[in-house]
Amino acid sequence: MCGIVGYTGTRQASDVLLTGLSRLEYRGYDSAGIAVQHDGAMQVICRTGRVAELRSSVEAVGAPGRCGIGHTRWATHGRPSEANAHPHTSCDGRIAVVHNGIIENFAEIRERLADQGHDLRSQTDSEVVAHLIEEAYPRAAAADDGDALVRAVSETLGHLAGSYALAVICDDEPGTIVCARKDSPLVVGLAKDGAYVASDVVAVLDATRDVVMLADGQIACCRPDGIACCMMQGDALAAVEPRTTHIDWDLDVAEKTGYPDFMLKEIHEQPRVIRDTLAGRLVGNSIHIDELELTAEELNLIDRVYIIACGTSYHAGLIAKNLIEGWARIPCEVEVASEFRYRDPIITPTTLVVAVSQSGETADTLAAIRDARVKGARVFGITNVIGSPVAREADGVIYTKANKEIAVASTKSFLGQVVSLTLLALVLAQAKGKMTSGHIRQLYTELANTAELVEQILADTEAIDEAARACTDAASALFIGRGMGAAVAHEGALKLKEISYLHAESYAAGEMKHGPIALIDEGFPVIAIATHSPVYDKVVSNLQEARARGAMIVAIATQDDEDISAHADHVIRIPKVRDAFSPIVASVPLQLFARSVALARGCDVDQPRNLAKSVTVE
Ligand code: AGP
Repeated sequence: MCGIVGYTGTRQASDVLLTGLSRLEYRGYDSAGIAVQHDGAMQVICRTGRVAELRSSVEAVGAPGRCGIGHTRWATHGRPSEANAHPHTSCDGRIAVVHNGIIENFAEIRERLADQGHDLRSQTDSEVVAHLIEEAYPRAAAADDGDALVRAVSETLGHLAGSYALAVICDDEPGTIVCARKDSPLVVGLAKDGAYVASDVVAVLDATRDVVMLADGQIACCRPDGIACCMMQGDALAAVEPRTTHIDWDLDVAEKTGYPDFMLKEIHEQPRVIRDTLAGRLVGNSIHIDELELTAEELNLIDRVYIIACGTSYHAGLIAKNLIEGWARIPCEVEVASEFRYRDPIITPTTLVVAVSQSGETADTLAAIRDARVKGARVFGITNVIGSPVAREADGVIYTKANKEIAVASTKSFLGQVVSLTLLALVLAQAKGKMTSGHIRQLYTELANTAELVEQILADTEAIDEAARACTDAASALFIGRGMGAAVAHEGALKLKEISYLHAESYAAGEMKHGPIALIDEGFPVIAIATHSPVYDKVVSNLQEARARGAMIVAIATQDDEDISAHADHVIRIPKVRDAFSPIVASVPLQLFARSVALARGCDVDQPRNLAKSVTVE
């Protein structure tokens, strides 16, 4: 949530900052701002709305200077407004700060600062940071060692509770950006023309592929010719060697490359994601996930699995539960992280906790990981972001190989998660001796084939668009399915509501007659996941019950299903696969369906209202 950029070097800072902000806009987009230093003075420009609005203002007034910081906001404290937009400045306007995270003790700090005569002009938690640095700076400058801003920032951090990624500039140290982080990501990239700071590598990729991912507690001092890092050790600062990570993503990840929106581009990347996620996993006749860092014996001892996640990642977990219990015969519970962290789940040293998170930053999932580790569980992460907090804090990690996902609605990373969890289920079944090696090879081959089947779905979307047109003006929709189909229904409903704002609910189809069927009247859209499965007949009975009450049925059914047309108003056909892999092929048309409905309703499919890509607050 919220995107931070910074630049100091030989280029025009405002150009770099605006380009970086537009790449980070997926993290928050209710307001944006920059602060640029020029001739010993700070110029701050903030606007509500998108980065494009900020760009127009900057172009109108001009913002010369070669060092600056910028921010795109997802409001937590205080509504979207120019006063609440970052950067925030000190009373004298000589210090500017951008912040991502939550300062939990801001209210008491604010009160103290106000008593001391500070003029706090916003409703945000972040603004106190600028004023605390203003307090600390004269003391730090007295040491006269050239590191006053670093010292003032480090003193300030000692007063903060909560999470933060910060970038700070000060007119007394032109050309210097000081950054710090705790529980919120921040990277620094060093290029020939200067130093770049960002919440996410996508904002620096066109300048450099070699980045330093700051660790929790690290402070970085960025100057045009290099960066120096240090850590707090008691009251002292100890220098640490910056560790560089090479990012080999193509810059295309941050561009639409000819697609009208990122969502469609990312939906079309899914066959590649499946192939990349599976690459190298089958060795001989067995599946290898070396990143698990568990021996075959340790895997065999696992007697309970918890999958913890939020949103779409949680739905990937629901799919995996069926596979882990069905194949490995290990009890598996799937729980939303925000519930798990406040319960007292039964965890023993033989419990495996699997944390699934595209961003690797989700606050609830991270808290649940920490809690599970304290309770003695082995924690395994499945994430899409290299070096993310989930990757760092788990005992082992699988990367989903989706590459950067920009659209707020998760599509390709969902499929990457489902494929990764399927591999995990196979590894557990293998370790428990529940499958022959021939069976494992057969399943792996079929799983790999789904990449081609997804390509087939993407090649002909006419039926999907037609069904979407029929639902565009509905006030509400129901998604139903059973078994694997129920998990797919949950994800289909989430996708539709988050990007089209059409109210959608999902139910295990057998639950319909226990309440939801009362909603159905003439023309009410019911999207039924009626793929080939052991419960196919039951799903058909449920959709007939809905149709008998006037529902308009959209059925997701397999290509060879000759009977389904008699029971549905619209049929979206997908290739036939075994039930275990049906979510992979059934989810894709639902992603396209949601997008079509959203576009027809005039919605921005990449940046839906009220949402942000990384949910770093509780
Ligand atoms: C997905 O379309 C959603 N935007 C959202 O539910 C998301 O899956 C959820 O916030 C979890 O995010 P994570 O995978 O990054 O942890």
